[in-house]
Amino acid sequence: MDGQVGHRFSQFTPKGMTKVRSMVWQPNVLRDFRPSPGLERLTPDLAQAVRSYHETWPDYGVTPLWELAGLAERWGLSQVAVKDESFRWGLRAFKGLGATYAIGRYLARRRGHPTTFDFPSLKTLVAAPPLTFVTATDGNHGVGVAWAARRLGHSARILMPEGTALARIGAVQAVGGQVDVTGTDYDGTVAQAAAEARHHGWILMQDTSWPGYDEIPGWIMQGYLTLIDEAIKLQGARPTHVFLQAGVGSFAAAVTGYLAQCGGAEPPAVVIVEPTSATTFLKSAARADDRLYPADGPLDTIMAGLACGVANPAAWDILKHWASGFIASDDVVAARGMRIYAAGLDGDCRITAGESGAVTLGVLSLLMEDPDYGAIREALGLHADSRVLLINTEGMTDPAMYRRILWDGYLPYCSASSRDLG
Ligand SMILES: Cc1ncc(COP(=O)(O)O)c(C=O)c1O
Repeated sequence: MDGQVGHRFSQFTPKGMTKVRSMVWQPNVLRDFRPSPGLERLTPDLAQAVRSYHETWPDYGVTPLWELAGLAERWGLSQVAVKDESFRWGLRAFKGLGATYAIGRYLARRRGHPTTFDFPSLKTLVAAPPLTFVTATDGNHGVGVAWAARRLGHSARILMPEGTALARIGAVQAVGGQVDVTGTDYDGTVAQAAAEARHHGWILMQDTSWPGYDEIPGWIMQGYLTLIDEAIKLQGARPTHVFLQAGVGSFAAAVTGYLAQCGGAEPPAVVIVEPTSATTFLKSAARADDRLYPADGPLDTIMAGLACGVANPAAWDILKHWASGFIASDDVVAARGMRIYAAGLDGDCRITAGESGAVTLGVLSLLMEDPDYGAIREALGLHADSRVLLINTEGMTDPAMYRRILWDGYLPYCSASSRDLG
């Protein structure tokens, strides 16, 4: 989203870096661990079934869980583990998990096999002419839908907001998606995709729900369960803290729903991270009247995957009962996360993380290092016994922006208290 990036940060000039806070914390006063109805569809048993289905796809492999011992030691934490979804099927993001599962379920039901299906049997369900799946996307979900549709012999129309980076458009086209760039933002593009589906009789594969459209988004959320099931089984000891990125919130809610039900004395503290310019959950938590509020203003952020103004109400139903709190993060924090991942401290492996993937590490780094955020660290109880799980949800999905940040130092971070971070 080159054209839409970071005007708020032009104030960060080498001459005099204006000191502003880069993160806002909102504890969740609605948290009551209530088993909301959506949880039934996100159980560890179901995750196992979804994962078994994914295992039938060619080239399925468990993505790595890296342990960053150097960072854990520097920050005085017991563990920092990162589930690295940049490796998912070579698509550079986790989103294919949702698309493969939802398209699979849709096709299986259409052919009268509602719950038992696998890749080889879906491949034999040839339709003439092939079906057309349509979705709106800021990139990664569109890649997943186009790739999954094509692998199963169908086609995909992918609508992308105006200003989408060329690399993101190219990534969808490379896996066979036909792209239309709309003249509007993400939320307007979602509405347009729904209208086109109705008009042409295409199948809408959207990763967010609204009244009257919740079955397919629910399947997409279930598809994401594979990654948290892999992570928890690889990590061994349960995490005490999990930081999750939120756009429409489907990913965060799927993971939170699973964690709420995977045993242990207490579920981990779940912290939801949104871009400052696209906060829906944080804003709703701040108002604490149970309603879900849209973001205000233009969705102006480098975190393209999180640039959503209207969130998924089904996600809110879970997050409002289970998340510990919400953080709004400026782009500088995501950029810091990208650089820390790429640097690989003290023998830690180097990780390629895109803007939306890296923001949670940027957030953790400031909580642990910047005195301005010490109170949030205390509130979250991050200390020597803490085992933190992060999910790098995307790799280098916009190479031009990646180089601008890593090579050219775009979006430097400056502590508001003007102290050195040591
Ligand atoms: C890389 C990345 N991370 C996180 C998300 C957030 O997922 P959701 O929109 O379900 O909140 C997205 C969404 O597109 C994404 O592309």
